[in-house]
Amino acid sequence: MKTDKQLEQIFIFAQKKLAHDKTGHSFSHIQRVSALAKKLAHEEKADTFITLASALLHDTIDDKVVADSQQALTEVKHLLALLEVSPEKVAIITYIITHMSFANSLNGQEKLPLEGQIVQDADWLDAMGAIGITRAIYYGGHHAETIYDPTIKPRTNLDKTEYRNLANETIINHFHEKLFHLKDMLNTEGARKLAQHRDAVMHTFLDEFTAEWNAKR
Ligand code: ADP
Ligand code: NI
Repeated sequence: MKTDKQLEQIFIFAQKKLAHDKTGHSFSHIQRVSALAKKLAHEEKADTFITLASALLHDTIDDKVVADSQQALTEVKHLLALLEVSPEKVAIITYIITHMSFANSLNGQEKLPLEGQIVQDADWLDAMGAIGITRAIYYGGHHAETIYDPTIKPRTNLDKTEYRNLANETIINHFHEKLFHLKDMLNTEGARKLAQHRDAVMHTFLDEFTAEWNAKR
C-alpha cells in the first residue's frame, strides 16, 4: 500500500479515537502537531511517514484519553499490520508513541529516534504559546482545578513519579511545573526557534495575570 493511502487510513483511525475528547487532546491538537511535525521533518530530513504516523497516533494510547492504553496499543499495532506497514516501522512508531511523554522525559530517558524527537517537539510546542495557555485553562476547567492559589507553591524539578502524583495542582502552577520547562527540553533547532516566542507569550500572560491578581494594574 502507498504511504499516502496508509497515512489517510491512520488519519481516519486517530480522528475516530479522539473525536469526543474533551481534555485538550482533541483532533485539532493532532492536526496542529502533524503540521508542525511535517515542517520540522522537512528541515531535519527525517522520515516523513514515520513522523506523520507517530504524530497522528501519539495520543490514541494516552491513558488520559483511553480507558485501557495496552488495549489501545494493540489496536494501533493491528491497524498498522493491516495497512502493510513493515514490522520494523511498526516497532519504531510504537516505541515513539509509548516513550515520548513529558513525564517519561523527566527520568533522563535515552533519546528518541529523530522522528520521535520531532513529534515530541511538535507536541510540546502545542502546549506552549497562546494555544498552550488555552489548553491549560481548558484542561484545568475540565478537571475542576483551582485557577490560582498563592499559598500553594509550585514545585519545579520534579521527577516522573512526582510529576504524575502532583495533587492539588492549580492551572497557574502548571506553567511552572511543566510549561516553562519545555523550551529547554526541545530536541531540534527549528522547534527551539519557534519556542522562543511561544515561551515569551506565556511569560507575558503570567506577569499580567499576577499583576491583575495583586491589583497592580
Ligand atoms: P500532550 O497532549 O501535549 O501530551 P498532556 O496530555 O500532558 O499533553 O495535556 C494536554 C494539555 O493539557 C496540555 O496542553 C497540557 O499542558 C495541559 N495540562 C496537562 N496537565 C495539566 C494540569 N494539571 N493543569 C492544567 N493543564 C494541564
Ligand atoms: Ni499530544
